[in-house]
Amino acid sequence: MTLRARIRVQHPLSLPIETPRLVLRDFRKADFEAVHAYASLEEVARFMIWGPNTPAQSRAAIDGFIEDQRAKPRIVFDLAITLKPKKRVIGGAGLRITDWESRTGDLGYVLHPDYWGHGLAEEAARALLDAGFTDLGLRRIVASCDQRNRASARVMEKLGMRREGAFRQSRLIQDHWRDEYLYAILAEEFLD
Ligand SMILES: CC(C)(COP(=O)(O)OP(=O)(O)OC[C@H]1O[C@@H](n2cnc3c(N)ncnc32)[C@H](O)[C@@H]1OP(=O)(O)O)[C@@H](O)C(=O)NCCC(=O)NCCS
Repeated sequence: MTLRARIRVQHPLSLPIETPRLVLRDFRKADFEAVHAYASLEEVARFMIWGPNTPAQSRAAIDGFIEDQRAKPRIVFDLAITLKPKKRVIGGAGLRITDWESRTGDLGYVLHPDYWGHGLAEEAARALLDAGFTDLGLRRIVASCDQRNRASARVMEKLGMRREGAFRQSRLIQDHWRDEYLYAILAEEFLD
């Protein structure tokens, strides 16, 4: 049985998600320029499993996000991070249900470098963790990063996530084997 077919009891994620400085909402086709502005950058893609994107790859990514929005039940929530007050798209944050029986999800985030260093990734990710635990009813949310990605590891630590593993050469990306950290947090730890 597919993951989708096994998900019967699922509360929808309430969108948009608002935080003091941000609004997280579904991506639209019109977000192409804003998405490509960060997804095409070498410094953004350095530790990612994708990119730097060509325009066609950024368009395909948005098409994929829109396809995921239509799935019933929906298991992938890749959201645009927009900055108040103009609600300009400055990045993306994603939560994906990876194992419904174990109520487990996977978290990720990316921001345009113009907005790094202000706690915005932490703010977006914290809101997604909250939505994952309270709306979706997840029990455990994990996130992983390249071991050299100090900023991402720090974001996870600020969120109260625990480093549960350090994997050697766990991913092959563009002919290079990557070492990764796995972080996780439980609903009871986050909501405490
Ligand atoms: C990872 C990323 C989303 C962080 O965004 P951000 O808004 O700058 O994150 P925050 O401001 O919430 O927190 C970053 C933390 O990392 C720290 N940091 C940044 N660069 C660092 C470095 N090279 N070494 C150590 N710490 C670093 C910052 O000081 C900050 O910690 P602090 O609040 O204790 O000072 C952003 O760098 C990014 O988009 N990178 C490219 C995409 C990516 O790698 N995504 C994660 C994939 S796993």
